[in-house]
Amino acid sequence: MKRFGLVVAIVAAFFAIAQTGCNPPRTSQSEKGGIWAVYDRECQKCHKARGSGGLVGRMIFKIPDFTNTKWQDNVSDTRLIIAVANGKKKMPGYKGKIPDEEIVDLIKVCVRSFYPKEDQ
Ligand code: HEC
Repeated sequence: MKRFGLVVAIVAAFFAIAQTGCNPPRTSQSEKGGIWAVYDRECQKCHKARGSGGLVGRMIFKIPDFTNTKWQDNVSDTRLIIAVANGKKKMPGYKGKIPDEEIVDLIKVCVRSFYPKEDQ
């Protein structure tokens, strides 16, 4: 049984590292001000501060990686705004919960800012 605990610890450590990569974890974007406070409050828990969705989120919940240029090139603002307003599969809809202008800004300012990849 001791062995089992060790395996669990190794797997947990692997996922912890995979989630944050080698970059120092960044947990907040609020210092950028404005709409980023809304991103931090409503979106960050799933999409992560860096917009990657996290490895586990991408694998299990099919969260898109906002830092993927191919993904960014293939999605229109309109489609993304509609997805956030109405919700999509595991993502709740935000229409009525946050003002329409903020949903638009979340896409145009926040989601699009992850393209190209922030600090590479
Ligand atoms: C509960 C977790 C969760 C939260 C909170 C959340 N999302 Fe999502 N989001 C998802 C998942 C899961 C998907 C993938 C949906 C799918 O295509 O299966 C997604 C997809 C998206 C997409 C891509 C939609 C498309 O058409 O491909 C955008 C853009 C997005 N989210 C933005 C946001 C924004 C902005 C917020 C904050 C207002 C937010 N999300 C909050 C889980 C979440």
